[in-house]
Amino acid sequence: MTLHLPLRALLPLLAATALAACAHEPAPAASTASAAAAPAQAAGDADATRARAAAMAFSTRLRERLQGAMQAGGPVAAIGVCHDDAPRIAADVMATHDVRLGRVAVPGRNRNPGHAAADWQRAPLDAFARAVADGAPAGEQVAVIRDGLPDGVALRMMRGIATEPGCLACHGSHLAPDVQAALAARYPDDDATGFSVGDLRGALWVEVPAAAR
Ligand code: HEC
Repeated sequence: MTLHLPLRALLPLLAATALAACAHEPAPAASTASAAAAPAQAAGDADATRARAAAMAFSTRLRERLQGAMQAGGPVAAIGVCHDDAPRIAADVMATHDVRLGRVAVPGRNRNPGHAAADWQRAPLDAFARAVADGAPAGEQVAVIRDGLPDGVALRMMRGIATEPGCLACHGSHLAPDVQAALAARYPDDDATGFSVGDLRGALWVEVPAAAR
């Protein structure tokens, strides 16, 4: 079976994950908190740490799985693996870290209809897209939302997902005919092609429940 993606194109992906996963948290807002507010702040920091750890676990495991599937069977086989294993990995990470998480596409550009942006995800995605249009790296965009959350939610986080060379086999502008056919069969309304390296592909989102404190 032909491997459409050269191995060397995949190798930088691993390094990029490690970087994107732990870099560039926004600087904490200047705090005027009194001593009495300190416990609330500490709880908020613990929630953010939990969200970051879950995001890192999910993206690392999904990437390893995708990379392994690409090496073993090429992109057509990897399409099925991606579809079946991404939710399984998400479920496992959610149980381990006691959070909810998933992936979302930039508005109007999703492959799986279940990955369309929810209302609360649109403002961060718009902000990420503006920053990327101004030249900021897509994978370094992070939003931590602590205010105006629904009951039972302590914190939400989103992290930008960059389009990398290894993504183009299935999300780029020139797909191999067998990849195109496999995607069309499974995703008749696929809007997730036409991306270039560096584009904002979407975001990883994490929701920490209040009970997790
Ligand atoms: C082997 C083909 C393949 C490769 C390579 C691939 N993807 Fe995907 N991608 C898919 C499929 C298939 C889905 C839909 C999965 C599902 O049904 O849940 C998807 C979905 C996504 C989603 C969720 C949003 C949506 O549109 O459904 C994001 C984000 C994403 N991919 C990013 C990436 C990034 C970033 C890379 C490179 C690091 C990448 N993908 C590489 C096939 C691929």
